[in-house]
Amino acid sequence: MEKINKLKFKFNKLFYFLFKERFNKTIDFSFPKNINRWDLIKDIINLKGYRSYLELGCDDDHSFEKIKIDYKIGVDPYSGGNFKGTSDFFFSQNKKKFDCIFIDGLHEYKQVCKDIQNSLDCLEDNGIILLHDSLPATIHQQAVPRYKIIWNGDVWKAVVNFRTKLDCDIVTCKIDHGVSLVRKVKNKKKLVINVKNFQNLKFEEFYNNYKNYLRVLDYENVIKYIQN
Ligand SMILES: C[S@@+](CC[C@H](N)C(=O)[O-])C[C@H]1O[C@@H](n2cnc3c(N)ncnc32)[C@H](O)[C@@H]1O
Repeated sequence: MEKINKLKFKFNKLFYFLFKERFNKTIDFSFPKNINRWDLIKDIINLKGYRSYLELGCDDDHSFEKIKIDYKIGVDPYSGGNFKGTSDFFFSQNKKKFDCIFIDGLHEYKQVCKDIQNSLDCLEDNGIILLHDSLPATIHQQAVPRYKIIWNGDVWKAVVNFRTKLDCDIVTCKIDHGVSLVRKVKNKKKLVINVKNFQNLKFEEFYNNYKNYLRVLDYENVIKYIQN
């Protein structure tokens, strides 16, 4: 992970408070304590019989090392995985297709949108993309620029954007700070909202609408969803 600069965090917090948004309510997701992102990834790989896996952002390899599969690539410019570089650099030279892609790199709206689109372009037709950290509990956890150690970033805004598109179907699993799943099929429950720039969405809107915006399901229903 990049080094944390405490002074920069203080400045970013003040900046967010003064110029972006103020909202102090917290969402109690009650994430199950015994289900992690890698449990969902492993279940999906087993249920679907997948043979290839790509992870964007590996850090200490907490997930990457647990994925046992014929072929796997882990991309990170700083630590972990087996490909040193940014996701953009990886995709600029990649010619392979993957069954399962886990997006967990830079958690900022524009980068996440790029990571989703590039992943869709190299996803096998029957494949599944997962995105980590799509359910932030507080305004602070989703603020960009970042000022919190525990940080989701604004991944959720990228998920809302792709929920409005016709050519992919998305649900969000209520585990481990939120894991959204993207499939390359016709959107079965397209989100209709009047938004010009998704990056300008406010946390208050997320607080009031997240279940519908991100199509949130519990673990059991996500497992049923991927089997249909
Ligand atoms: C939240 S951590 C990943 C955690 C890991 N996937 C896991 O499940 O434990 C985010 C990682 O993304 C990496 N990262 C930052 N910018 C990136 C980029 N542009 N492309 C790929 N990875 C990036 C960071 O170095 C960091 O290690």
